[in-house]
Amino acid sequence: MSFHYLNRELHVEEVPITNIMVKFGSPCYIYSQAILHRQWCAFKQLLQSSQQICYAVKANSNLAILARLAKWGAGFDIVSGGELARVMQAGGDVRKTVFSGVGKINEEIKIALQANIGCFNVESESELFRIEAIAKNLHKMAIIALRINPNIDAKTHPYITTGLKETKFGMSGNDALPLYRHAATSPHLKIQGISCHLGSQLTTLDPFLQAIEQLLDLAEQLKKENIELKTINLGGGLGVSYQQKKVPTPQEYCQQILVALKKRNARLQLIIEPGRIITAQAGILVTKVEYLKTNSDKNFVIADAGMNDLIRPALYHAEQNILPIIQRCDLPEKNYDVVGPICESSDFLGKNRQLAIQAGDYLAIMDSGAYGFSMSSNYNSRPRVAEVIVDKNQSFLIRSRETLEQLWQNEKIVHS
Ligand code: LLP
Repeated sequence: MSFHYLNRELHVEEVPITNIMVKFGSPCYIYSQAILHRQWCAFKQLLQSSQQICYAVKANSNLAILARLAKWGAGFDIVSGGELARVMQAGGDVRKTVFSGVGKINEEIKIALQANIGCFNVESESELFRIEAIAKNLHKMAIIALRINPNIDAKTHPYITTGLKETKFGMSGNDALPLYRHAATSPHLKIQGISCHLGSQLTTLDPFLQAIEQLLDLAEQLKKENIELKTINLGGGLGVSYQQKKVPTPQEYCQQILVALKKRNARLQLIIEPGRIITAQAGILVTKVEYLKTNSDKNFVIADAGMNDLIRPALYHAEQNILPIIQRCDLPEKNYDVVGPICESSDFLGKNRQLAIQAGDYLAIMDSGAYGFSMSSNYNSRPRVAEVIVDKNQSFLIRSRETLEQLWQNEKIVHS
């Protein structure tokens, strides 16, 4: 199952990765359907059907991934009209879709209302009034939850911390109260619940448990005013183990959350928005070693994938494991920085890695299924890479490598 060595060659499920590289070329994202399913089931098994798992589309938005999750019963967390269109295109259930994000524009709100999405996670007073006005215009009722910023430190990288009061996300409990009162009287707003999202790659459960207490305090306060909430949305954020660090499992996460809700006798239905934990381990980025190079006493692997293909190491100093596709006994191990071809010194995939390799070999950047392809770009005019999914002994191309013509298909040479 999953990614494993057989006869010193890395396989995904039953397929040798070398075969995939021959068929689809390098670099290439490769996903395991079995791992995707395993991760999905880890949550699904523990939650009742009234509790909703809304997969965060931004982690990996390939239609083939979304379509599989939709088939298995997922709801979705979206942050743009583009993500809504993807969910619809993949056959996802729009009524099980929640719309987060601080900057929803008119057109996105309108389309989401017309599509009858499950809930808007509203992040500010002005957004609430805007949604109300657009709903009124369309003779619609917008279903809403207010996103609370609980000012809790998620203890993760500052760029992916979202639950501290100095960040742009959500609103304080105090600011939320008058908005709930307003929504309760509005003919175009229907209050569904309360939400939060603390950040991403959380490696302890404490912040989630603290957030639950705060959100439930608010829910109780509202109940006293006859404003009854139905749902409590804890957002996403559960981390994965990139470097053998111990992180809570989906089982531990769900159990502790459910216990915390039960302790308070909360009758609210739980919604969660996991992204990374569903797709990260299901995907790898495979890249070819183009050159080996030594500058003074530093050894470099120059790979054919760079920061435009996988930006996490450059942007968050993420350390993802790097494995050779073929384990060699004929070469000594050396210490390498694995870098790409991009003209920036931030263009690295991993630093100080012990590897026994030569030019022409392939490497796998592990745990790249979340925020890998979805954050990739055409920087340095590099076509985005192919994506492949493996199911047992079969591999399927789920996104073709971009062509050079696609790089400039929306451009025009105009002379004034
Ligand atoms: N819900 C909301 C409102 C979010 O903003 C996010 C992620 C999620 C759910 C899903 O969080 P997850 O379960 O994946 O941690 N590019 C960064 C991660 C950015 C996360 C942004 N928001 C990275 O590569 O680490």
